[in-house]
Amino acid sequence: MAAITLNSGFKMPLVGLGVWRMDGKDVKNLLINAIKIGYRHFDCAAEYKNEAEVGEALAEAFQTGLVKREDLFITSKLWNSDHGHVLEACKDSMKKLRLDYLDLYLVHFPIATRHTGVGSCGSVKGVDGVLDIDTTISLETTWQAMEELVSKGLVRSIGISNFDIFLTRDCLAYSKVKPAVNQIETHPYFQRDCLVKFCQKHGIFITAHTPLGGAVANTEMFGSKSCLDDPVFKDLAEKYKKTVAQVVLRWGIQRNTVVIPKTSKPNRLEENFKVFDFELSKEDMDQIKSIDRKYRTNQPAIFWGIDLYA
Ligand SMILES: NC(=O)c1ccc[n+]([C@@H]2O[C@H](COP(=O)([O-])OP(=O)(O)OC[C@H]3O[C@@H](n4cnc5c(N)ncnc54)[C@H](OP(=O)(O)O)[C@@H]3O)[C@@H](O)[C@H]2O)c1
Repeated sequence: MAAITLNSGFKMPLVGLGVWRMDGKDVKNLLINAIKIGYRHFDCAAEYKNEAEVGEALAEAFQTGLVKREDLFITSKLWNSDHGHVLEACKDSMKKLRLDYLDLYLVHFPIATRHTGVGSCGSVKGVDGVLDIDTTISLETTWQAMEELVSKGLVRSIGISNFDIFLTRDCLAYSKVKPAVNQIETHPYFQRDCLVKFCQKHGIFITAHTPLGGAVANTEMFGSKSCLDDPVFKDLAEKYKKTVAQVVLRWGIQRNTVVIPKTSKPNRLEENFKVFDFELSKEDMDQIKSIDRKYRTNQPAIFWGIDLYA
């Protein structure tokens, strides 16, 4: 499948399946189906609390000969409460995923919070209702521990997630192993061209999380508006004889980002993967540019009592 080459020299497939908010009981069927459709890239995280189920599905896929380990690209992420325990947290994810290496390990958020036990992924708040942030661990310290994962052969590539331009610039300054990826929320209503350009200029690939704007899931969780309902996309979908989601994902790919849509619906797995048999014209890419609302749909502040993006 179509892939890009990271600054680490490893390839990352352009479309992946995100597994956040995927019910443990659905994971096995969805992953096996996805592999049959052609997905080779899975975006996981300790905090999604379904790594054990993903691991079970992967083990079955390897045992039955459906796919080989070396043909998959598996990402996991270090949770905020484990910044002081990077090696243990990574090993815990690998154990649950039943893998002896990860393709990519990301610092999930640029913030260390109170440790709650390796892999338990707590987000403890104080009596004031505000997230307990650990001010003793710098991102540089966390990154040094991430670099050791590469030298130990546990992880092929390391990266960051939800880092803005300033934090990314800092990471470039203190890193020996440069981040291969910055995984950020970006979609037609939140295009973030400056951050995307900055990262691409410095050899950091952008993975677009929330590439469909979170659709119904984020409307339910955060009260956001979905770009899938935008009339511009309805017209484009008709024009290209594709679904709105396919046009949105195609736009993501054509701006050189990797997209990791999540779905728990088997028919949508196929739909979201069929984005390589058409191309949006320059005029249509420009039209999509004009509908940017600079609108973040994923708002962890509702869980943390503090808006870290403020
Ligand atoms: N690094 C981070 O901090 C971070 C944050 C958020 C997300 N992520 C990653 O990015 C992945 C994707 O993000 P996300 O799940 O928040 O948002 P998303 O992929 O933009 O949207 C998911 C929503 O879109 C719906 N959907 C999927 N395919 C569709 C289609 N073809 N037509 C209409 N609706 C469709 C899904 O519903 P159904 O399931 O019912 O189809 C769900 O409601 C996550 O799974 C996770 O791996 C990372």
